[in-house]
Amino acid sequence: MADNEGNIDAKSFGVGVPQTQEQFFLKGNENASYGIKSRLSQVFNKKSGHTVMLAFDHGFIMGPTSGLERIDLTINPLIEYSDCIMCTRGILRSVIPPTANKPISFRADGGTTILTSLNDETLIDIEEAVRLNVSLLAIMVAIGDPDHEGSTIRNLTKTVDLGQRYGIPTLGVTAVGKNLTRDSRYLGLATRVCAENGANVIKTYYCDEKFEQVTNACPVPIVIAGGKKLPERDALQLAKNAIDQGAAGVDMGRNIFQADSPVAMLLAVREIVHNGATVDQAFDCYETYKNQAK
Ligand code: R5P
Repeated sequence: MADNEGNIDAKSFGVGVPQTQEQFFLKGNENASYGIKSRLSQVFNKKSGHTVMLAFDHGFIMGPTSGLERIDLTINPLIEYSDCIMCTRGILRSVIPPTANKPISFRADGGTTILTSLNDETLIDIEEAVRLNVSLLAIMVAIGDPDHEGSTIRNLTKTVDLGQRYGIPTLGVTAVGKNLTRDSRYLGLATRVCAENGANVIKTYYCDEKFEQVTNACPVPIVIAGGKKLPERDALQLAKNAIDQGAAGVDMGRNIFQADSPVAMLLAVREIVHNGATVDQAFDCYETYKNQAK
């Protein structure tokens, strides 16, 4: 029981000093709830305002992708160098140790594979996301896909509603479509539609022309996927271009885990995303870490 006698008198009331109130550091999320901001702060680095997410959810549409045959052997050693991991619940529960203690961008939908139409998605129970202690609900949105646009927008809308209820932010993922063009006109439309429907962060692809128009017209942060494996220097250039043109980070998979030295690549990408390194500096970093790892 608290002692009622002999206590030090409270006197540091800061009279005349307004209570400190900080502005949230990620664009478009100032009016989000405490839980959403708190989780976004786990994913994004407050100092740089950016994030390096490691994506390895490819298996749910592609099967055992090169580099992901044995996630325990190839991905688990990389996790400590990432800011956030993006994966499915199956891999999370079966392979990723809970002690990894990294924010999780949770593949909150399941869907059809490369063998059929892609993007015919169904939602995973929100309580599963809560049980797994996730920081982001990632939902595929197939804008422009005549068969799946409507259903995937409904998935996004439902997820944003549930995310609002439980304080978990939503990541709108613009779809990998067989017939979708990755130019600024399409990406600008797709990212904006995701944001208008309430996504807190958007994941999309970089495009060589007018990408800054995509980031500027999107009222919430954009992170870019890496896409198919490129030579390491080209992948670093892609990350640099995206950051210089307003991306808030990367959510990269194949260009990291299929690199000659995945740890070195992840560290080199971090130099660009968090420390403003040039491509030359980041590539030097890649070579240095790669040689150290030999
Ligand atoms: C695509 O929807 C998947 O979510 C992947 O996570 C995404 O494409 C990122 O991986 P990559 O950098 O290999 O394209």
